[in-house]
Amino acid sequence: MNPVLSAIADRRSNRAYKPVPLSDETLNALLQAAVQAPSAVNRQPWHFTVVRDQALLKELNAAVWEAMMARDPEKRSARFQDPNFDVFYGAPCVIFISGDQKNSWTPIDCGIAVENIALAAQALGLGSVILGMPRDAFKGPKGDNFRKALAFPEGFDFQIAIAVGEATDTKEAHPIKENKISFVG
Ligand SMILES: Cc1cc2nc3c(=O)[nH]c(=O)nc-3n(C[C@H](O)[C@H](O)[C@H](O)COP(=O)(O)O)c2cc1C
Repeated sequence: MNPVLSAIADRRSNRAYKPVPLSDETLNALLQAAVQAPSAVNRQPWHFTVVRDQALLKELNAAVWEAMMARDPEKRSARFQDPNFDVFYGAPCVIFISGDQKNSWTPIDCGIAVENIALAAQALGLGSVILGMPRDAFKGPKGDNFRKALAFPEGFDFQIAIAVGEATDTKEAHPIKENKISFVG
């Protein structure tokens, strides 16, 4: 099969990782894939922050937990029933994408960039999972501390994150919902 189509077909959201750091070469390849993404009017309204510091990820995980526990129990993700649930799944590296809040295409542009990272990871034999949940950490009382700790540029806020590493889980492809495609004309 075509290698790009294979990477798209074989990518999965991995939720368990070996505690093995990524090499600088691998990390550079992932970041190159990210910055080569297309963006509206080529504004590139993104910033990539690589976090390998497990203590910082622990603090972010705790802040997400705090926000989740403050919600009505029925509005909580079922994953939080496990007291050991880690929003980052023990990944050795998480790339946070913050985006320019003044640009209306920012969420779409950052979404394209994060998928480029996911597909590059897949092509390099690594696992990944795109993460929206960390957003809660930036909405909470420690939000500004985290924006600073993660070197978000002024006027930028969290858009999405992606955990990357050597995955230890395997997973079937997600079931495809019906009636998602129309041909007209
Ligand atoms: C915008 C976005 C946010 C997501 N956030 C999370 C998350 O916070 N935690 C998680 O475990 N998976 C998250 N996922 C992964 C989805 O659950 C996953 O893509 C979906 O279930 C399909 O499975 P697959 O990626 O293995 O095909 C997210 C995916 C996207 C695109």
